[in-house]
Parts: sequence; C-alpha cells; structure tokens
Amino acid sequence: MRELKLKAKCIEAGTAAPQYETERYLNFICDKFDLRTDIQFNTRIQSAQFLDDQRTWQVTDTSGRVYTSRYLITGMGVLSNPTLPNVPGVKDFQGEAFHTARWPKEPVSFENKRVGIIGTGATAIQAIPEIAKTVGHLTVFQRTPNWAIPLHNAKISPEEMQDIRTGYPKLFEKLQQTRMCFIHDANPDSIWDATPEQREELWEHLYAQPGFGMWLSNYKEILVDHKANDLVSEFVAKKTRQRVHNPETAELLIPKNHGFGTRRVPMETFYYEAYNRPNVRLVDLHKTAIDRITEKGVQIKGVKEGVEGEEHEFDMLIYATGFDAVTGAFDAIDFTGVGGVKLLEKWKEGPQTYLGMTVNGLPNMFMIRSIEFAVDWLANCIGYLQQKDLSRIEAREEGVKQWTEHVHQISEGFLSNEIDSWMTGVNKNVAGRQKRIVARYNGSAVEFRQRCRDVADARYDAFDLA
Ligand SMILES: NC(=O)c1ccc[n+]([C@@H]2O[C@H](COP(=O)([O-])OP(=O)(O)OC[C@H]3O[C@@H](n4cnc5c(N)ncnc54)[C@H](OP(=O)(O)O)[C@@H]3O)[C@@H](O)[C@H]2O)c1
Repeated sequence: MRELKLKAKCIEAGTAAPQYETERYLNFICDKFDLRTDIQFNTRIQSAQFLDDQRTWQVTDTSGRVYTSRYLITGMGVLSNPTLPNVPGVKDFQGEAFHTARWPKEPVSFENKRVGIIGTGATAIQAIPEIAKTVGHLTVFQRTPNWAIPLHNAKISPEEMQDIRTGYPKLFEKLQQTRMCFIHDANPDSIWDATPEQREELWEHLYAQPGFGMWLSNYKEILVDHKANDLVSEFVAKKTRQRVHNPETAELLIPKNHGFGTRRVPMETFYYEAYNRPNVRLVDLHKTAIDRITEKGVQIKGVKEGVEGEEHEFDMLIYATGFDAVTGAFDAIDFTGVGGVKLLEKWKEGPQTYLGMTVNGLPNMFMIRSIEFAVDWLANCIGYLQQKDLSRIEAREEGVKQWTEHVHQISEGFLSNEIDSWMTGVNKNVAGRQKRIVARYNGSAVEFRQRCRDVADARYDAFDLA
C-alpha cells in the first residue's frame, strides 16, 4: 500500500508540475539527447502540401520559407490553439491582458491590482487560488461551474524519490495496463452492491487521495448511469458546500447542468477556499452575460428579466477561455493532400482518421496523439517502409470509415456525450464548433495499442503501400 501511495504521489505530482520544473526538465532532455541542433524554434507553419509525383511533403512557414520531407509528423497537441471570448471589444481594453495559454515569460504582479478572470475551466481553477494570494481584488466570471477535486500535490522527500526510482520498471508496467495510462486501477465494484456507508467510505478515501482516483477508480457505473452519477455528484457537492463559507457562492460553484466526471475533471489546490477571501468575488454569468470588453474592463448585460447589467473596471484581464481543441491546430494550417483535397473540408464534420494517426488522402503524414506509443509505432512503421524500399503509405477510405465507426461505437453510453465541452468538440467562441461530436478516443489505451500492434504485425497491409 505504501509503495502504491508513493507512486501515485509521484505520477500525480508530475501531472501538475510547476512551469519552471517542466521547463527545467525539457531543457535537461534537450541537452541529454543533444536535440537543439535538430529543432528550429520560433517557426509557425502556414501550409503543408503533399506532392504526389515526388512523394514529398512541402511545408511553408509564415515567413515564406519552404521545407520538404518524405514524411510529415505533426505533434501539435490537442490543446494548443487558444481562443478568446467571441464578444466585441477584446482589443479595446487598455490595461494588461493575457490568455493563460500565452502567459508572459516575465513575472506578472497582481499586487494592488483589480484583476478580472474569464473562465472557470481546469486552467482557471488552478490559477485563481494562486492569483488570490497576492491580488488587490479578483473578479471571477463564471459561465459554467465545473466539478473540481483536490490535487493533494505534496513534496517528495529524497527517500521517497529513491523508492520511486527503484520502482520504475514495475510502475511503467502498471501504466501499460490501465485504461487511461494513469496509475489508478479501474474499480470493478457495482455501486448498487454497496451500502450508503460503504459508498461514503470509498468516496471519502478517493477524495483524500492525490490525483484522478475519484474519477478513474470510482464505481464502474458513475460515468454511464445517471442515477449512479447523481449520487457521486451529490457527494462532491457536499464537499464543496463544506469548503465554501457563503452558501450562495457555494451553490453557484456546484454544476447543475452536468454530473461529476462528465467533463475533464479539474484538479485543484484550495480553489474553493479562494472564494472565502474578502478580495475574491464570483460573478455568475447564468442570469447575465458578457456584453462587451470595454477600454476599462468588462460590461455585463442581464439576460433574464429583472437582471441588471454592470460595468466592472480592471487593471488586468485574464482570459482562461480554453482552446479550439483537437482539430483547431490542424484548421490553422492549410493542409492539401492528393488531388488538392483539403483536410479542413475532410474534417468539417469532425476528425476522420485511421488509428487516430493517419488520414486518407494525406499520405505519408502521421499525427502524434498519445505521445510515447504513437512515436514508437510510427518510427517502426517508417523503419519498415525504408527497409522494404517503399516511400508512400496511405490510409484507405474504408479503413478510416471502419475506425471512425469503432471510435463512435466505444463512445456510446458515456454521459460525457450529453455535455458540451472541448472533449465533445464544442467551443462557443468558434464558428462551426457548436455541435457535439466524438472528438477523442473513449476506449481503453490497452485495446488501442493492441489494435495498432495488430496492424503493424500484419505488415501494415491495412494501408496502401507503394
Ligand atoms: N493537468 C492539469 O491539471 C490541467 C490544468 C489545466 C488545464 N488542463 C487541460 O487543459 C484543458 C483545457 O482547460 P482550460 O481551462 O484551459 O479550458 P476549458 O476547460 O475549455 O475552460 C474554458 C473556460 O472558459 C469559459 N469561457 C470560454 N468562453 C467564454 C465566454 N465567452 N464567456 C464566459 N466564459 C467563457 C468556459 O465556460 P463554458 O464551460 O461555459 O464554455 C470555461 O469555463 C483541460 O480540460 C485539461 O485537459 C490540465
């Protein structure tokens, strides 16, 4: 038990390492593998075109410089294209303004400042308690509350770190076996076999654990059965009520339009306690909406009868408003495949891929989604092509159709499909992103890897090779 607890601490601490630690680690890796000479920084790609007669990708950056390569591998991430609110006046604000995904390198001071933050997703939930510590006054604009649970990040002692290091082989083996590659085991127990006391005991235990246990080691029904989900949601709501002193604020912070775990669960460190500070105010955008950003701040309008508008003045505005997720980074580049086919056109109803890594009509292009496995898989694939003196690989239309059906099928039954979020492809700030789609693979990572390995074992005969 001790061993597992230590490992959980390590893995979960890793998911929320502070910026400076992450940067230090990236620099360490760059130095260790002498990667800098192979990386060109500060380069934004504008277009990518497949030249079929040469079996080559031609990639152009925003300065007009052209690069060619046989294979094109995209590692753009699913959350890399930040979006601002689609309200007028964003450029009018005269104070400091930042999107959380484009935070400046220089330290930002909140001291004695009136700060407004728009959004209450995972990013805002981590930023708010930090800002609240030093800010003059913080106003949080919340459109939809989320179900956040404690991260329980803690310092790891040298002895614990030593234990973790010696346990790496076992740890990595374990991460290969879990559904979402986290340390948490799936719970095979049914909520309906447990007494109310047993449920409470499990939930208290999970709520006190570091990381995603409350989400991933909970009773098997909570993500697929409304009644089960209502019970666990009520438990988390109770916890929120205990932590927020003002009962009205607590109610505003408890989601009413979706259940626990049906959106990506934000992990927090004293998020709810931030609202107990006199210098933090929550503005509910349920009865009101942002009318516009003004020179001085944010103009709110009432959207229900009898609710008045209000102007909030700020020295600083923070947009924690999320991303044009999953396909947004692809849409920002003009991808052209065989016969002039546009990726934007192909994906207008949502992403259509084979194995999540390749697209029909765009040969020799691979997309890295799940980093480690995808990199190994495609490196082996390219190695195979070279070994066989082949230079063209293309996903078949039929393969894409079958894979897309598989992705849709394994997604069936999840309550998360009934909710607007980036995981269902919805972003109210982006035209054409209002309809829910299956935007990501909802199956088990174990099954996903096996399917990809089967394709490799069959010498990639599911692809057109030339
Ligand atoms: N490892 C971690 O702990 C960690 C930390 C941070 C982020 N992340 C990852 O990053 C993902 C994205 O998180 P995020 O917080 O950056 O984005 P997000 O979850 O998409 O949240 C965006 C927030 O902005 C609000 N918003 C957007 N436009 C608005 C508008 N016009 N008016 C008012 N509110 C508006 C949204 O409200 P609505 O909900 O009403 O649209 C939402 O609260 C997470 O789900 C997670 O996967 C992970």
